[in-house]
Amino acid sequence: MFSDADAAALYDQLNPWDPALWPSDAFYDELVMAAGSVLDLGCGTGSMLHRAREQGHAGRLVGIEPDRAALARARRRGDVEWVEGTAADARWEAEFDLATMVSHAFQCLVTDDDLRASLAAVHSALRVGGRFAFETRHPQARAWEQWNPAHASETTDPTGRVLRIQHQVESVVDDVITLSETTAGPDGTVLRVDRSSLRFLDPATLNTFLAEAGFEIEAQYGDWLRGPVTGSSREIVTLAQRGPRP
Ligand SMILES: C[S@@+](CC[C@H](N)C(=O)[O-])C[C@H]1O[C@@H](n2cnc3c(N)ncnc32)[C@H](O)[C@@H]1O
Repeated sequence: MFSDADAAALYDQLNPWDPALWPSDAFYDELVMAAGSVLDLGCGTGSMLHRAREQGHAGRLVGIEPDRAALARARRRGDVEWVEGTAADARWEAEFDLATMVSHAFQCLVTDDDLRASLAAVHSALRVGGRFAFETRHPQARAWEQWNPAHASETTDPTGRVLRIQHQVESVVDDVITLSETTAGPDGTVLRVDRSSLRFLDPATLNTFLAEAGFEIEAQYGDWLRGPVTGSSREIVTLAQRGPRP
């Protein structure tokens, strides 16, 4: 057995929040520490907000996340507000200076309806002039082509189990990739299979969704070091401001 709680613990082990190691984490840390109040949508195990508190953030920090096992790990820190739900479930009104969707959580918004409902909820949650920061993988880099058994990895989980983790793309339909993640023992015994779908919006389509939701694009980068979006960028990193309600 490899439970939801095991999977959440392994996620933290494989994806430690570390601004010294990852430019993405440094990019978001700077924004979070400069904002008086922050809403992190798809906060997962809460590592970004945990770190913000550890670093002395004294304002309001709220994380919302639909996965209960991830949220249970987030709740290990009680000085941050944790809410179970999706981005579209967010019901705050003009309460935050900054909203974030980090580590590609934005790509979990797969349908047009979910994208519109989620962007409307983020727009409402922000104060006028508040910012929404997130990244989405640029489709031109075709990241999903690396998600196959040839790139399987082996790791030892927090309880000492040796695990083999591999990804497999199951379908590519328009701009939505559906993939499976298989966790197996060293002898190949399958312990768990997780399926998810991710949307790869191109910049023009992304920006149309943002404009229709009432956001004004302040900056868009091709990486977290604030380089421009070019013909070889792997990411679209967006800073958008809440404009007038559409
Ligand atoms: C790659 S993880 C990133 C987690 C966390 N932000 C981090 O940096 O570690 C993506 C997260 O988005 C969450 N998610 C999936 N669908 C969502 C939705 N509709 N709204 C908000 N979050 C969602 C997943 O449960 C998952 O925790």
